[in-house]
Amino acid sequence: MPPEVLAQAAADMLDWHGQGMSVLEMSHRGAAFESILQQVLSDVRELLAVPPEMAVLLLPGGASLQNSAVPLNLAAPNGTSRGDVVVTGHWSQKTAKSSARHADVHVAHHGGADGFTHVAPASQWQWRQGADWLHLCGNETIHGLEFDQWPNLAALGCHTPLVIDCSSHIASRPMDWSGVAVAYAGTQKNLGPAGLTLVLVRQDCLDRASPHCPEVLHYAAQAQANSLLNTPPTYSMYLLGLMLQWLRDQGGTQAMAERNAQKAQLLYRCIDDSALYHNAVDPAWRSRMNVPFTLTQPGLDEAFLAGAQAQGLLNLKGHKAVGGMRASLYNAMPLAGVQALVAYMQAFEQSH
Ligand SMILES: Cc1ncc(COP(=O)(O)O)c(C=O)c1O
Repeated sequence: MPPEVLAQAAADMLDWHGQGMSVLEMSHRGAAFESILQQVLSDVRELLAVPPEMAVLLLPGGASLQNSAVPLNLAAPNGTSRGDVVVTGHWSQKTAKSSARHADVHVAHHGGADGFTHVAPASQWQWRQGADWLHLCGNETIHGLEFDQWPNLAALGCHTPLVIDCSSHIASRPMDWSGVAVAYAGTQKNLGPAGLTLVLVRQDCLDRASPHCPEVLHYAAQAQANSLLNTPPTYSMYLLGLMLQWLRDQGGTQAMAERNAQKAQLLYRCIDDSALYHNAVDPAWRSRMNVPFTLTQPGLDEAFLAGAQAQGLLNLKGHKAVGGMRASLYNAMPLAGVQALVAYMQAFEQSH
């Protein structure tokens, strides 16, 4: 999180706006918290350009719970749900597996045979006519693949509601929500703290839930209750509000897009110009948020990580599912952080 946001949270900690109490102590039904939540909901709408026909929900359970919420909300009247999943890496693979607890799931495309290095055009996906939803992961956090734009399914004759997991690139650039039925994102990457999930739901998909859908997961019920069906993670909502203020101060998603592109270009150039570092993803599909890379010379990983840590360059170890290294360039990471990483990588290559 940006230092400015943490400093504001620290300043507000004991007494929010002269109320004589911390946000942590407020009733979620009181006027003070209500004003915080209203501001958050309207800032989400404005800063992420959410159109009026989409509801803005803030739900608990992280992005993972949406693997249950989506099939339980996008169901046929008899409660069955048929979902097509496009598997482009670790997280969409997990969606295919987890959502199968509640739905008849079909994998419309699987990029595993190509090592998740690119995504086949949507015209080659094997989607099913009449499915209740089609899911894709906008940015694969572990494999480092990102959709630049959403596929135009309608142009292919596919009218299945499109569901997108935007957890690891929400607010990293302007996003066009037309053609999207549901978009969701755990807030812990670009939007602040853990414990909260932003869910955007097009009105015509709000009330298609299975009778078995638990009330707190029910999109229409949560929309009607202003995301306050039960006691929500109030402090996370407040921190999300501070993050949105920060995003506005930075110039919004357009300014973020420019800064993120600059950071990513710098790091990919360093990798591509080097003999030691390697990123296997097709340049057209490379993520601007998560840059995985391996060291081509065996046995150097530990030395690389230890040297990085000594310079204050932390959390570079890749996810255990893929190994190697990964640099995450979320909104709060300044250009100077990437410059420091690149300088370290170049020096490490020289000395090895
Ligand atoms: C793209 C993506 N989807 C889903 C998740 C799971 O999120 P959560 O831990 O909020 O359930 C993550 C977590 O890193 C992610 O990166």
